[in-house]
Amino acid sequence: MKIRTLLIILLFVASCNMADREREGWFVDARTEKRVDSLLDLMTLEEKIGQMTLFTSDMDVTGPFMRDHYVESIREGRVGAIFNAYTAEFTRKLQQMAVEETRLGIPLLFGYDVIHGHRTIFPIPLGETATWDMQAIKESARIAAQEATAEGLHWTFAPMLDVTRDPRWGRIAEGSGEDPFLTAEVARAKVRGYQGDDLGALNTMLACAKHMAAYGAPQAGRDYHTVDISEITLRNKFLPPFKAAVEEGAATIMTAFNELFGVPATGSRLLLTDILRDEWNFNGFVVTDYTSINEMVPHGFARDEKHAGELAIHAGVDMDMQGAVFHDYLAVQVEEGIVDEAIIDRAVKRILTMKFELGLFDDPYRYSDPEREASLVMTEENLAFARDFARRSFVLLKNENNTLPLPDDVGSIALIGPLADNQRELIGSWSAAGDYTQSVTLRQGIKNRQGNQTRINYARGANIDDDDRTGFGEALRVAAMSDVIVLAVGEYALQSGEAASRADISLPGVQEELFDQLVRLGKPLVVVLMNGRPLTLENIDANACAILETWFPGTTAGDAIADVLFGDYNPSGKLPVSFPRHVGQIPLFYNHKNTGRPKTEFKFTSKYLDVPNSPLYPFGYGLSYTTFDYSEITLDKNEMSMDGTLRASVTVTNTGNRFGEEVVQLYIRQLVGSITRPVKELKGFRKIGLGPGESKEVDFELTWKDLAFYNADNKFRAEPGYFHLFIGASSEEVQKTRFVLTE
Ligand code: NOJ
Repeated sequence: MKIRTLLIILLFVASCNMADREREGWFVDARTEKRVDSLLDLMTLEEKIGQMTLFTSDMDVTGPFMRDHYVESIREGRVGAIFNAYTAEFTRKLQQMAVEETRLGIPLLFGYDVIHGHRTIFPIPLGETATWDMQAIKESARIAAQEATAEGLHWTFAPMLDVTRDPRWGRIAEGSGEDPFLTAEVARAKVRGYQGDDLGALNTMLACAKHMAAYGAPQAGRDYHTVDISEITLRNKFLPPFKAAVEEGAATIMTAFNELFGVPATGSRLLLTDILRDEWNFNGFVVTDYTSINEMVPHGFARDEKHAGELAIHAGVDMDMQGAVFHDYLAVQVEEGIVDEAIIDRAVKRILTMKFELGLFDDPYRYSDPEREASLVMTEENLAFARDFARRSFVLLKNENNTLPLPDDVGSIALIGPLADNQRELIGSWSAAGDYTQSVTLRQGIKNRQGNQTRINYARGANIDDDDRTGFGEALRVAAMSDVIVLAVGEYALQSGEAASRADISLPGVQEELFDQLVRLGKPLVVVLMNGRPLTLENIDANACAILETWFPGTTAGDAIADVLFGDYNPSGKLPVSFPRHVGQIPLFYNHKNTGRPKTEFKFTSKYLDVPNSPLYPFGYGLSYTTFDYSEITLDKNEMSMDGTLRASVTVTNTGNRFGEEVVQLYIRQLVGSITRPVKELKGFRKIGLGPGESKEVDFELTWKDLAFYNADNKFRAEPGYFHLFIGASSEEVQKTRFVLTE
C-alpha cells in the first residue's frame, strides 16, 4: 500500500513539473519520460517482465491455445496487457484486478483485432482498398477506433500491411492486395484514422502495423509457410507499407510467423532492430504474433523455448503475445547473465510510455465507460457510413448491354444462391466484435429498396461448398418465371483469413454448375460475388451478363448491394489485385519484370502453352455505369533533374449520361536500371467525380523519390535514365508518354 501511495506522489510530482515545463516550452515527451522512469525505478524484475507479457482472455479465440491462468497472472502483476477482452464491463473488471490487487497498480493495456470495424463492420480490407478512397479508409478506422475505445480497448492489431501476389493465401482478404504503393497509402490512412492526432483522446487507439515482414509471400500460398525472397525484393515490394506506417507514427509493430533469409521474423535482428529501429527510427514497441517466439523451436531456429526467448529479445521484441516465454524464462536468463536487464528496461519503458500516452495512469478506467459504449456503438451515423463505404468498395467486373442497373420497375427477380439470403458470411473473416445477426442480407436489401413493386422469387439453389444439387430444380423453376436472375455466389467468410489457404480458387462446391444451368435459360443473369480473394472466373465472365464483385461488404451489405444493383450508386471500385484466369498462373501481378524473352508469337518466349499470360481482370480495373475518356498526357518538361519535379496531366471526361467517379492511375517504368525494373509501377492515383459531359484536369507531381528504388547496392536511389509514364483507368488501359531523368 505504501509503495502505491509513493507512486501516486511521484506521478503527481512529475505532472506538476510538467505544468511548469509546459509553461517554459518543454515537450510533453519529457514529462512522459520522467513519469516512466520514476515508475520503472519502483519495479521488480518480475513486474517488468509482466509488462512484456500479453495474454488472451477467454472471451474470444484467435489462436491455437488458451492459458487458463490469465486471471491469476493479472492479479500477480505478471501480465501487462490482455487481448480478446472487450465491453466496458469486462475490461473494467479485469482492469480493477490490475489496479487494485497488484503491488504497483499498473493498468492493463487492452488489445484486439479491430480489423475492418469493431461492432459496425465495414468491408474486408481488400474491399476497403478497392475504394481507392483514402479519406473514407481513414474515416472507417476512426469510427472503428471510436467504437472499440468505447468498449474498453486501447490497441488494435491493425493495419495488416502484407503485400501479397498469391490469392491462394487466405490472408489476402485482410490486406490491401498486390501493390506496395497502394498498400502504403492505406497504411498511412489507417494509422491516422486509428491514432488521430492525440493518443490521449478517448476515441483514439494505438495502431499495430503487422506482420513484419513478408508474411504475404509464403511458398505455394500456404499460410505460415516459408518465405524465401531476396533482400531487394523485400525492400522494394514488401517493406514500403511498414515504412509508411512508421513515418505516420504507428505506435506498435507486430512480428510475422514466417521465416525470412532462414531466420524466423520474430528472431530477426535485421528486421526488428537494424531496419525498424536503426534505419527508420521507430520508437514504439514491438509485439510478437501469437506464440511466434515458441514457434522458433519447430522452425528449427531455437533449441527450446528458453533459447527462443533469448533470440527474440535480442532481435528486438518488446512484448510476447500469448507464448509466456518471457513470463517463464526471462528472469532466470537475467540471473544467468544471458539477458541484460537494461534490454528489459528499454522494452518496458516503450510499453509504459504508451500507457502514459493513452492516459491510463490518469484514469485506468477512462475507456471502460458503459455510457459511452451505449451511445457510440453501431450508431445510425456509423451504419450510414458503412453502407456508403461498402457500395464504394464494389467492383463492376462486367456489364454487357448495360444489364445493370436494373430498372426500378423490374417486375420480378429470381434471387438465387447460397449467399442471397445469408447473414453469417456478410461480415467476413476477422470481423472483431461484429454480430452477424445484425447484418442486412441481399434479399432484405432488395426488399428494402423495391418494397412490393418487384416480386422476389427466392431459391437457395446450392450450398457454398458441398455437392448437394437437390436445390437446382427449385432454382431453375423460380428463374424461369422471373424477368431477371440475380445469383449470389462465393465463398464462406472463413474460406479466407488466417489459416484459410485454398489450392483451387474457383467457386467452391457446385455453385458454378448451378450457374451453368441458369445460363441455359437465356435470361439476363447478374452474378453478385462475395469472396475474400480473387477467384478464377473465366466461365462466369464468358457467360454472365453482369458481374459485381462485392467482397464481404459488412453489416450493411444487402442495402449497399441494392444501391448498386438499382443505380442509386454508380460503382467506382477498382481491383487492388489481379484476378488470374487460372490458378496455375499464380503468382500473377501487374508489376512483374519483362524477362529476357518477353512473350511473342514465337515459341521460345516466356509464356504458357495453355493459358495467356495476362490476368482475366487486371490490377486497377473496374467498370462504371458511365464511361470516361482520357486525353493524351501532357508533361511540363521532358527532362527532369534529380532535384527537380515533373508535372504530368490528363483531362478526363465523363462521356456518359450519369454522374460517376473514376480512379485515375499513374504508373511509371524505368527502361534500364542497375537492377531490372518492373514493366509498370503505380506511383499516384486520384479519385474524382464527374457529372455527365463534365471534364477535369488531373495533375500529378513526381520527385526523385517517386522514381527511387533499392538498387544493386541496396541503396534507395533514383537512377538517371529513360522512363515511360502511363496514366489511365487501370494498369492495362493507359495513355503513355516518356521522359528522361538526368543527374
Ligand atoms: C494471429 C494473427 O496472425 C494476428 O494477425 C492476430 O493479430 C493475432 N493472432 C491475435 O489475434
